[in-house]
Amino acid sequence: MKISVLVGLQWGDEGKGKMIDVLTPEYDIIARFQGGPNAGHTLLFNGEKCVLCSIPSGIFHGKKNVIGNGMVLDPVLFRSEIEMLSFFHLDLTDNIYISRRAHLILPTHRLLDKAYEAQKGVNKIGTTGKGIGPAYIDKVSRNGLRIGDIDCDFEKKYIDKTYRHKKLLQQMNFKYDLASIEKEWVESIEIIKQFNRIDTDDFINKALNKGETVLAEGAQGTMLDVDFGSYPFVTSSNTVCAGACIGLGVSPTKIGDVFGIFKAYCTRVGSGPFPTELSDSIGEKLRSIGNEYGSVTGRSRRCGWIDLVALRYAIIINGVTQLIMTKSDVLDSFEIVKICIAYEINGRKTKKIPFEINSSVKPVYKELPGWKTDMSNVDSEDKFPKAFEDYLEFLEVFLEKNIKIVSVGPGRNQTIVRNKLKQL
Ligand code: GDP
Ligand code: IMO
Ligand code: MG
Repeated sequence: MKISVLVGLQWGDEGKGKMIDVLTPEYDIIARFQGGPNAGHTLLFNGEKCVLCSIPSGIFHGKKNVIGNGMVLDPVLFRSEIEMLSFFHLDLTDNIYISRRAHLILPTHRLLDKAYEAQKGVNKIGTTGKGIGPAYIDKVSRNGLRIGDIDCDFEKKYIDKTYRHKKLLQQMNFKYDLASIEKEWVESIEIIKQFNRIDTDDFINKALNKGETVLAEGAQGTMLDVDFGSYPFVTSSNTVCAGACIGLGVSPTKIGDVFGIFKAYCTRVGSGPFPTELSDSIGEKLRSIGNEYGSVTGRSRRCGWIDLVALRYAIIINGVTQLIMTKSDVLDSFEIVKICIAYEINGRKTKKIPFEINSSVKPVYKELPGWKTDMSNVDSEDKFPKAFEDYLEFLEVFLEKNIKIVSVGPGRNQTIVRNKLKQL
């Protein structure tokens, strides 16, 4: 068997949680491979809303859910997620598997995240403040603490690591109160001990050999990837499809379907370049209809028109085989919709992502008429208005890729799988 991967193609929050939940019935295992509690994946079913941060979005279907070696896990936030899920009476200890190689986010990582941001001042990244960057720094600089360390000399290792962090915080003159957050962190480590701790490479490869199906769940989005995103305004992991190989321990030859998910417009949280951003009433309208507020931090998401330059780049890097478009219903009332088809940089047009996306990058737009139809109840492609079909076709021709699934609302049933795809 091959493993399917679902990745965000924009700046995160494309609706990955909803779509993983919709696709899960076809899979035996759902596996997160990077990131950590900076993610906020929203699921909506039976009138209940649930935001998952570290636990894969397959948890509501009784499938196996893997926290991969490429992830960073905060025991305190993991515990609160477990407590939140206990409300749904799920079999959590049987269905969650944590990689021994996943790295721990320490309380001092959270403090360092805040200290580094404060030091950057106006140039701050606008991180989620969850300690993601510092935890990955320690991983790469070979100073990290892993889930597997819990069973062996843990206290000594913990003291060694935090000693270094305290020195760094002192150097930055950052004031903090560690005692209270450290206490709940140490208590939460005990919760992790109740879960299956595995080697994900062995677990996933054996499952594939047995004919089990695996769906890897990306977090963040391609434009936040540490190598390919709008650096330095990115997260600290590889969010692209290749990250699934590293973050789970599967070979590139084992990758099958790559689902690339994008919104019918664009959003971004935190600082950093965003060529199609709308700082006017149209941006406000997108935010208000799309309810564009961060699932993790509650921050307002910046909104803008869809950016096909960035989207085409993301499709290539990820090797997308199937496109999924979400939130098209948010554009239902717009007279016209704009689509960024090129960038103009110092008077020259280009369809290539530049080394640095800065203020000299201006979007070039194509305008199409809006469909002016309530799409949230549309349940079949046969009922798509003509203007919506034209919008889809324009995107497909430009991107040279079919849009296989269209999402017209946050609910599971507001999902349309298209069968009449155009030959491109
Ligand atoms: P993720 O991080 O990619 O999982 O996305 P988030 O959960 O952070 O943000 C997506 C938001 O859009 C959530 O509130 C979803 O419930 C909602 N959503 C997902 N798909 C659709 C859709 O097609 N239409 C609308 N209106 N909302 C959607
Ligand atoms: P999901 O999985 C949107 C952004 C932060 C910040 C930058 C770095 O829900 O799509 P970090 O805390 O990772 O060091 O922050 O990345 N960011 C996200 N934006 N969705 C996310 O996840 C994000 N995770 C991180 O806002 O700009
Ligand atoms: Mg999110």
